[in-house]
Amino acid sequence: MQEKTFIMIKPDGVKRKLVGEIIGRIEKKGYRISRITMLTISERTAREHYAEHKDKPFFNELINFITSGPVVAMVVEGEGVIEGMDKMVGATDPADALPGTLRFDYAVSKTFNIIHRSDSAQSAEREINLFFS
Ligand code: CMP
Repeated sequence: MQEKTFIMIKPDGVKRKLVGEIIGRIEKKGYRISRITMLTISERTAREHYAEHKDKPFFNELINFITSGPVVAMVVEGEGVIEGMDKMVGATDPADALPGTLRFDYAVSKTFNIIHRSDSAQSAEREINLFFS
């Protein structure tokens, strides 16, 4: 099924010059980047994007980190792209990420994990609307 997902290269991925590497992997997989922008997220947008985590102990650290510098936000389209990007990105904790995933190769912690992907079709729609409307 043709789907859309929301992908964001986080401030650590941008600072470490991983934008080309990540976009290359997405394109080589055959997915299509239909929207792309670089921006520094406002605290308000960050709180809305991560609203489901607002009561978690790591919430403030997550908001400080995600607003700390520019991110690259994208809409990525393709057959089964939501699950496909979930697999390409890998587990939140790099210690659990499988070889071949972006987080196995580049993430250093649960916070500094270089990339965000939508975890469902509903999240994708909500996140795309938040960043691209
Ligand atoms: P992301 O895919 O952007 O979605 C939610 C984010 O919360 C996740 O990546 C992590 O960066 C962060 N996160 C999840 N669990 C933890 C945790 N236990 N400690 C710190 N950050 C976390």
